[in-house]
Amino acid sequence: MFNKKIEKAINDQINAEMWSAYLYLSMAAQCHELGYGGMANWFEIQFKEEQDHAQIFYNYIISRGGRVTLKPIEKVQTEWKDALAMFENTLEHEKVVTSLINDLFALATKEKDYATQSMLKWFIDEQVEEEENARALIDSLKMINGNGYGLYMLDKELAARTYTQASPLTSEE
Ligand code: FEO
Repeated sequence: MFNKKIEKAINDQINAEMWSAYLYLSMAAQCHELGYGGMANWFEIQFKEEQDHAQIFYNYIISRGGRVTLKPIEKVQTEWKDALAMFENTLEHEKVVTSLINDLFALATKEKDYATQSMLKWFIDEQVEEEENARALIDSLKMINGNGYGLYMLDKELAARTYTQASPLTSEE
């Protein structure tokens, strides 16, 4: 039988990932409003990736014979001062997610649930990448310092980002 404490914690994580998806979609919407189509593309891909993360946890609960319980998604912020504020918020948020994943791993360790520890390893690596990406964009925006041409070039670069489904989903039947 699937450990109930782990089942609850992973259900909470599904909700956190869906909330993240909603947050990034909200940022994408504001980017469109500001005329940053490339940044909107970047956040829309974040939105899809977060849904993938939720789906990985969802599939995992099912594969362990557990019960998925979906909870309401809390409302998200809808306005930011500028693009830099959005990416700073992204980094802050990803740090929170990293700590949630770490807490899950600590719980799986305490409960001697080795399969859950193994599943979480992909997320531990993913969080390093998530934080690194946000940090790099903050650095670029700080360098650009509001310069119109710089923002135009960065937006063009982010327009080129393409979505790839998260690997734990593509490796499934
Ligand atoms: Fe699901 Fe951005 O971490």
